[in-house]
Amino acid sequence: MPTMYAFDIATDPVTLYDDLRDALDALTADEPDAIANMANAAALIWQYLPDLNWAGFYRLVDGELVLGPFQGKPACIRIAIGAGVCGTAAATRETQRVEDVHAFPGHIACDAASRSELVVPIVVGDRLVGVLDLDSPSPARFTPADAEGCVALMAVLGPRVA
Ligand code: SME
Repeated sequence: MPTMYAFDIATDPVTLYDDLRDALDALTADEPDAIANMANAAALIWQYLPDLNWAGFYRLVDGELVLGPFQGKPACIRIAIGAGVCGTAAATRETQRVEDVHAFPGHIACDAASRSELVVPIVVGDRLVGVLDLDSPSPARFTPADAEGCVALMAVLGPRVA
C-alpha cells in the first residue's frame, strides 16, 4: 500500500476532470471505508481545483445532512433536507450550480467569503448517500463543465461511500 500519492493532473479544463477521475478511482478502489474515501476525495479536489474556499461532504444521517470530511473553514454541522443549497440538492437530487449565493433563497453562509457554490448529490441505486459541496470566493466560479466533471467524480465515488 503506498504511503504517498503523487498524481499527474492536467490544469486545462478539458482533461482536468478526466485526470481527477482517474486519481479518485486509484485512491478509493481498494478501500471500503466511506469516511476515508470521502476524506481523500475532499483533499484531492481541494488540491487540484483552483479558487475554492471550501470542499467537502455532507452525509445523509437519520434524515438530515450531517457534516462529513472537508477542507476549509469549520462549517455548519447539520442541514435539513430542503434548506440552503445543500438541502435543495438533497431534496431534488439534482446538481445545484449557484453563480451568486447571495441571490439563492435560503443560502446558508458558513464562510462569509463564499460567493458561488456547486452541490452534487451522491445517489447510489435509489439511495441518497449525501452531497459534495464546493464553495468559491469568486462569483460564477463553476461552469457547466465543472458540474459535469463533478457529477462524473461522484459516479466513481458513490459506490465507495455508500
Ligand atoms: N452554503 C451551504 C452550506 C454549507 S457550507 O457552504 C460549507 C448551503 O447553503 O447549503
